[in-house]
Amino acid sequence: MASRKVTRRVRGIPTSDGAGVKLTRVIGQPKLDSLDPFLLLDEFGSDSANDYISGFPDHPHRGFETVTYMLDGRMRHRDNHGNSGLLESGSVQWMTAGRGIVHSEMPEQDHGLMRGFQLWVNLAAKDKMMQPRYQDIAPDKIPGVQPAAGVTARVVAGELFGVTGPVSGIAIEPVYLDVALQPGAKLSVPLPENHSAFAYVFEGEGVRVGEDTLGLRELGVLSPGGVVELSVAADAPAARVLLVAGRPLNEQVARYGPFVMNTPEQIVQAMQDYQAGRF
Ligand code: CO
Repeated sequence: MASRKVTRRVRGIPTSDGAGVKLTRVIGQPKLDSLDPFLLLDEFGSDSANDYISGFPDHPHRGFETVTYMLDGRMRHRDNHGNSGLLESGSVQWMTAGRGIVHSEMPEQDHGLMRGFQLWVNLAAKDKMMQPRYQDIAPDKIPGVQPAAGVTARVVAGELFGVTGPVSGIAIEPVYLDVALQPGAKLSVPLPENHSAFAYVFEGEGVRVGEDTLGLRELGVLSPGGVVELSVAADAPAARVLLVAGRPLNEQVARYGPFVMNTPEQIVQAMQDYQAGRF
């Protein structure tokens, strides 16, 4: 079984979004426009309320999914279909925007650490206009697994050594793992061979991925292969890495802000539908 290699290394760029939330954009920026089916990866993390307090007031989405993984903090989401929920530390929300939602994502704290990720996952042409759907997953519903000495992983989506994550019914068959490695730990992670995949180091100093070492806040795009080898040197600090994979859609992408469709005409339609209140 072929081992995956790092084919590209990317560091995120500092930016802000919403009403001024500071974040690091890792996918969806000039150095890595997208990684089919992934359209965007933002990391946010600050213990200064000024960096997040303004939140993400009402904004639309159509044609894709947003996946919010809260590591620390509390965020309230509300949409125009009457759905609302609280994203707490350790929880995940897999939101399928489908034909359209208008929602807000606002911090429910005025001090302390707010940290996490938002990933955008594209929908296939046939699913872009599906009914919106939420999978709100509480922290204790995300199973942990200890597949090797010094390794613990949270399985958000996909399967790892017989443990299946709670996210279900997603067409790209995602794998979404949060893997923590102690000094000297190593692990071979099986991944569907032809899925697009990336690793992103978000704690520690670095993680060896195949034959390369990714530094802190560095994303590695991975070649196809049935397995990826992760390790941390015995004299390095413990590290944590996000390992994400999904089946590529190989479809035309037309993208404008929060609308991701297949053709420019569909983008115009999305803007018209949004402005007419049809979301
Ligand atoms: Co949003």
